[in-house]
Amino acid sequence: MKTIFSGIQPSGTLTIGNYLGAIRQFVQLQNEHDCYFCIVDNHAITVPQDPATLQHNIRSLAAIYLASGINPEKSTLFIQSEVSAHTQLSWMLQSISYMGELERMTQFKDKSSGKEGVSSALFTYPALMAADILLYQTNIVPVGDDQTQHLELTRNLAQRFNNRYKETFAVPEIRVPEVGARIMSLQEPQKKMSKSDENEKGFISMLDSPKKIEKKIKSAVTDSEGIVKFDKENKPGISNLLTIYASCTGDSIESLEEKYKDRGYGEFKGDTAKAVLHLLEPIQDKYEQLINSNELDQILDQGTKKATETANKTLKKAYQAMGLGRK
Ligand code: TYM
Repeated sequence: MKTIFSGIQPSGTLTIGNYLGAIRQFVQLQNEHDCYFCIVDNHAITVPQDPATLQHNIRSLAAIYLASGINPEKSTLFIQSEVSAHTQLSWMLQSISYMGELERMTQFKDKSSGKEGVSSALFTYPALMAADILLYQTNIVPVGDDQTQHLELTRNLAQRFNNRYKETFAVPEIRVPEVGARIMSLQEPQKKMSKSDENEKGFISMLDSPKKIEKKIKSAVTDSEGIVKFDKENKPGISNLLTIYASCTGDSIESLEEKYKDRGYGEFKGDTAKAVLHLLEPIQDKYEQLINSNELDQILDQGTKKATETANKTLKKAYQAMGLGRK
């Protein structure tokens, strides 16, 4: 049995990309491993957030995790800001992070370029992410492939700390899904699908109505060739829809190419929408039952307790290794 940790930012309603790239792996892994899944609200405040909206998004994300199949009997589900060890260890890891390596992070470059008033927390974000992971002696981190660079830095920080002070942290491995590790925008298929995209037509939210989902998929950008074929370079729009369809149904991309060989994009898009709806409808039903329930709070309370116990053990070891405080 391995220890698994992953987190999602409550920075908007999750997209089908978050589900296919991340949550779906979580649900599978919890059957065999000791899993911690986190609502990383401290990460969300690295860019400005409206407090009331943030509160709503935190609760909504908890309900989405559970509605998607995270089982609180098997996994620990909790809110990052309720376990103070995360920010404490983050500070310690900042002290061994180099400016140069933080400057190289593409997420920082993307989120800061051309913006005024970029927060210093956005810059040191990767040290907090490393703290999240290392506090649980994590062996595997299931994520989409946009997190690869952050994971590499986490591994470097763990090794650096262990070498400089004392063996304290497990060095984690990344795990990305074979299909669906990077779902692209429906409007700009060269760009990752993102919950913070200003163009709502670019992403499918997990809580979008069936009508909206159909509309968004029907208006997805494709090409004029009229052939359903996977070719990321020349046909990024169709390739993305093929990936979404295949990830939702479990069909292989080759079998879908064969199925739609002599059919037009209209029919292919209609069936892609059906595949997405088939996947999301049961999740949306469960979400409605959970969002205002007391059960949700009980699960989160229990998660905070368990996560705090585990995290504090590692934090104590790290304090001692670094020589902080008294013996
Ligand atoms: P976030 O909140 O942006 O995304 C959550 C998870 O969803 C995956 N993902 C995608 N997968 C496929 N296609 C997409 N278009 C897509 N968009 C997002 C992400 O890879 C991620 O797995 N830094 C993290 C949050 C974090 C974290 C952690 C993750 C904080 N601490 C510790 C793992 C471990 C982030 O911003 O994810």
